[in-house]
Amino acid sequence: MNGLYVHVPFCKSKCYYCDFYSVTNSAEQADFSGLISQEVDFRENYLADKSVDTLYFGGGTPTLLSPEQLNDVLNKLKLTFRVDKQSEITIEANPDDLTSENLKAYKSMGFNRISIGTQSFFDEHLLMMNRRHTADQAKDSITMAHDLGFQNISIDLIYGIPGMTMDQWIANLEIAVKLPANHVSAYHLSIEPGTKFGRLKRAGKLFEISDDDSVDQYKLLREIMLANGFEHYEISNFAKPGYYSRHNSKYWNGEAYLGLGPSAHSFNGHQRHWNPASLKKYINDVKDKRIPKGEIINALTKRNEYVMTHLRTSKGIDGHDFQALFGESEWLGFLAMAEKYFINGQLKQYNNRVWFDCEAWFYSDGILSDLFIVQ
Ligand SMILES: C[S@@+](CC[C@H](N)C(=O)[O-])C[C@H]1O[C@@H](n2cnc3c(N)ncnc32)[C@H](O)[C@@H]1O
Ligand code: SF4
Repeated sequence: MNGLYVHVPFCKSKCYYCDFYSVTNSAEQADFSGLISQEVDFRENYLADKSVDTLYFGGGTPTLLSPEQLNDVLNKLKLTFRVDKQSEITIEANPDDLTSENLKAYKSMGFNRISIGTQSFFDEHLLMMNRRHTADQAKDSITMAHDLGFQNISIDLIYGIPGMTMDQWIANLEIAVKLPANHVSAYHLSIEPGTKFGRLKRAGKLFEISDDDSVDQYKLLREIMLANGFEHYEISNFAKPGYYSRHNSKYWNGEAYLGLGPSAHSFNGHQRHWNPASLKKYINDVKDKRIPKGEIINALTKRNEYVMTHLRTSKGIDGHDFQALFGESEWLGFLAMAEKYFINGQLKQYNNRVWFDCEAWFYSDGILSDLFIVQ
């Protein structure tokens, strides 16, 4: 079945590392549900069929919308698409927006998974990243979500933060595994050019941590999560059995999804489309019912994307599935390109399946580009 993604492009303030599309103090926030509803009206036939079983509200900060607005969007989606009864319905939340009233409202309107942007349990890190909440607020919001009936809770953590010690990283992970979260997304800080951190780095005022420290933190992450019953199912994602993100898994498995809202991407199996990363342009497009820019995915791109997304997961690439899509000679070609990584142990191969060695996963970008066919 398909997935639906809604990008809510509003934030109270910008975190210094963040390059996701969002705006602050926007007057357009008040009518955002109306805009999404109009977009749904002219894009409802994008997917080959209307059955969906994952809905994901991300951002930006979806929890900045009022519960009424969120409910309006959900209702519109439920009226337009065939939303499976067992759907996974996720809301991304910032700890400072989570009150017991809001959480109860999210639960009663149908959200059954919450992804809480925690980042760190140390106030000094939260402050230097310009987060709007304290460590205690983050902990309390996770516990409160659980106490109010959310059984499916994910938290985001960032490592590789300049100045973060190994002991602090260990403490972050140990706090995380004791909290009632059954999914953890842990990202290495990426210093993006267009962010405040990017500017500080260019000015020589912020320094990336060393490669050795990055690798050590990644190893600790795996060690502590595995020791506490989490499965490392995707480069940056860990989950207790049965709690993999069904929506994000669609991206890695090449399944179709419709993305609504500014900067949202969509994929219908053979084409990709992307909405403009500008609220103004998005509003104009919606008013004119303009289909967003897109591209047809040719066979070569499909093959490269298949390699990249499947190798992000612990399952890796299944040779039968690959051959069913691209043929035997493509598979043999892929195995030949991968040969040097089988020899050095960075890729594993068994039973017609290929996957990353867990330590090499951390360096996968360079290896993956070597496995692409470029013409
Ligand atoms: C789409 S963001 C927004 C979630 C939500 N607005 C929040 O801040 O809590 C999802 C996650 O991506 C991660 N992230 C964003 N930018 C990052 C960066 N430059 N480096 C590492 N992680 C990043 C953060 O962990 C963040 O919680
Ligand atoms: S991390 Fe979340 S809250 Fe911070 S700027 Fe990005 S989207 Fe907004």
